[in-house]
Amino acid sequence: MFWRLFTSGIDRYRHGEESWALVTGGSDGIGKGLCEVLASKGFNVFIHGRNQTKLVSVLEELKVTYPTRQFEVIVADATNPALASEVAAAVAQKNLTILINNAGYTDTAIRAFVLTDHQEFDKAIAIGVGWITHLTRELLPLLMKNEPSLMVNVGSYVQSHPPPFLAVYSATKGYTLALTQSLRTEMQYTSHPNVEIQYHEIHSVSTHSNRKAPGLTRPTAHRMAEAIVGAVGSGRGFVVPYWPHELVSWVLWILPEGVVNSLAAGVLQDRRVDVEGKGKGKDD
Ligand SMILES: NC(=O)c1ccc[n+]([C@@H]2O[C@H](COP(=O)([O-])OP(=O)(O)OC[C@H]3O[C@@H](n4cnc5c(N)ncnc54)[C@H](OP(=O)(O)O)[C@@H]3O)[C@@H](O)[C@H]2O)c1
Repeated sequence: MFWRLFTSGIDRYRHGEESWALVTGGSDGIGKGLCEVLASKGFNVFIHGRNQTKLVSVLEELKVTYPTRQFEVIVADATNPALASEVAAAVAQKNLTILINNAGYTDTAIRAFVLTDHQEFDKAIAIGVGWITHLTRELLPLLMKNEPSLMVNVGSYVQSHPPPFLAVYSATKGYTLALTQSLRTEMQYTSHPNVEIQYHEIHSVSTHSNRKAPGLTRPTAHRMAEAIVGAVGSGRGFVVPYWPHELVSWVLWILPEGVVNSLAAGVLQDRRVDVEGKGKGKDD
């Protein structure tokens, strides 16, 4: 909590003639909020997503709000990690100083592991493991060249407390945390301490993939994005950027494991798509 006394360190990554940020999954939700907040902080932004029409509409909106910033869209379906090299080619000539790996398998439905198609697993693993790994492999050399630079990997509390009915999605967030921690240390031991790499643990946020109304413990996507950018100055590898989420995470760590599991199971049972009469979508 004490790191919150310090202001965001995001300005550190705005240097040279023009600084660019790339936000994956920038056409909606937290990613779109991050594009807005980064533009407001003086960054030009590459908005990545899979839907050209939606991306162009976000780009037009941003151009009106931030007329002095530059924006470019990059269309690449993250279920195909081989496209990561095309993303790298699109940004190679720019002074890229920030990469936000925000895209996750948010299309996932809540259902029992044994009733999930193999294809669903493949998509979740392609985005949550393959895409982030190969995009990072493609872009880390650029971030090393342009340091000081920043990579933020957007995670979830499901990594800390894996709930039932979301096993593979939760596992991809565990992978993301391990990838983050290893690369963060690797930067320090390969003479690149100015490449900052962080995992940001997110709890419930009101977005397209989590349609519950916003409130104190469930911020809007824009508010969440502000918290993420604000937490960059923390200097920590693992951070819970939104303060009410951090309070909730303390409570979850204090409670006995069985209580946390039964709370999660109670909520998710009601939202299983594989049980007749139950809900749809996830809240993670
Ligand atoms: N919302 C929450 O409660 C919550 C909680 C914990 C963690 N998170 C994490 O936060 C991140 C963002 O979640 P969100 O709630 O903002 O999601 P969202 O509102 O569903 O937005 C997801 C973004 O990713 C894009 N995307 C999805 N699949 C893609 C693909 N195959 N290729 C390219 N782009 C793709 C979407 O594109 P389209 O516009 O085309 O759909 C959209 O721009 C994810 O990593 C998620 O795991 C969210």
